[in-house]
Amino acid sequence: MPRAVVTGGAGFIGSHLCRALRARDWEVVAVDDFSSGRRANVDDLLDVPGFELVEHDVVHGIPIAGSVDAVLHLASPASPPLYLARPLATLDVGSIGTQHALELARKHDGARFLLASTSEVYGDPLVHPQPESYWGNVNPVGPRAVYDEAKRFAEATTTAYRGVYGMDTKIARIFNTYGPGLQPDDGRVISNFLAQALDGRPLTVYGDGTQTRSFCYVEDEVDGLVRLLESTHVGPMNIGNPGEYTVLELAETVLDVTGSRSPIEFRPLPHDDPRQRCPDISLASRVLGWRPRIDLREGLARTSEWYRRGVDPT
Ligand SMILES: NC(=O)c1ccc[n+]([C@@H]2O[C@H](COP(=O)([O-])OP(=O)(O)OC[C@H]3O[C@@H](n4cnc5c(N)ncnc54)[C@H](O)[C@@H]3O)[C@@H](O)[C@H]2O)c1
Repeated sequence: MPRAVVTGGAGFIGSHLCRALRARDWEVVAVDDFSSGRRANVDDLLDVPGFELVEHDVVHGIPIAGSVDAVLHLASPASPPLYLARPLATLDVGSIGTQHALELARKHDGARFLLASTSEVYGDPLVHPQPESYWGNVNPVGPRAVYDEAKRFAEATTTAYRGVYGMDTKIARIFNTYGPGLQPDDGRVISNFLAQALDGRPLTVYGDGTQTRSFCYVEDEVDGLVRLLESTHVGPMNIGNPGEYTVLELAETVLDVTGSRSPIEFRPLPHDDPRQRCPDISLASRVLGWRPRIDLREGLARTSEWYRRGVDPT
């Protein structure tokens, strides 16, 4: 059985990815320092043969013995409040952590490497929707730079390792992803709105709500990542849902799906908030035969059901 190491494996996307890889007969080692991930995310996997959880900060190396056939590097704070609270740790895991993850793959002949990059590499894009060929519009000294530039550095490092060592690397550019496992206090727009709607608190919209976002259900996202891992394509490849909604439309849909009577409240727009975000997924459709299948209403209904059942706060 091939063996995969998933850094950030106890996080939101990482835990779904570990489950998907196990289901495809990969042995899986999740490495996580629990800075934003939770043991509860992988509770159901702990007794599954072929799954192992290692508590470790990948900035200090990745001490995994035995064979490794793939390294999937997801470790990184992902939501703005989390990376803004830990700016240096975010830069470290995107730079030093990525090098350790690449080194782990390099030491194991023929091991594949997949980098979980982000749509944030496009910054506040001037091209819409964003194809992989677009280089982005990032402010290197803005507050979001610690995340955006760390991921851009991670892409450059991955590309350099491929060139220098001939490694089999892949870069996935993940767009906004949501679903069960996304913690209500994570600080992303869908978790904020769902938690507010279900608690009967006002939904907070930043700016006038006309900025657009696209939202990919986690099952679709993970399907795209696994297909990319198992393909011969190098990337970068956008994996996201091209359905585009204004933040105000999202708020209204959340109210509708949850049946909440919460009001909508407007707050000042944060610095460097992108106006538009929408993936061009023609490459993923052509090369992987992939497209998202779960629409926003269905995904929100499934996620709100998970929130209603009560989320383990540990
Ligand atoms: N969720 C999204 O919408 C989205 C969008 C674009 C990119 N991504 C990328 O996908 C990956 C996973 O994001 P997520 O939404 O699951 O976030 P998450 O915070 O739930 O998961 C990240 C995981 O990495 C772990 N981690 C962080 N630093 C670490 C370190 N130094 N050593 C070991 N583990 C560490 C955290 O504890 C957490 O479990 C991230 O790399 C993120 O940048 C996510």
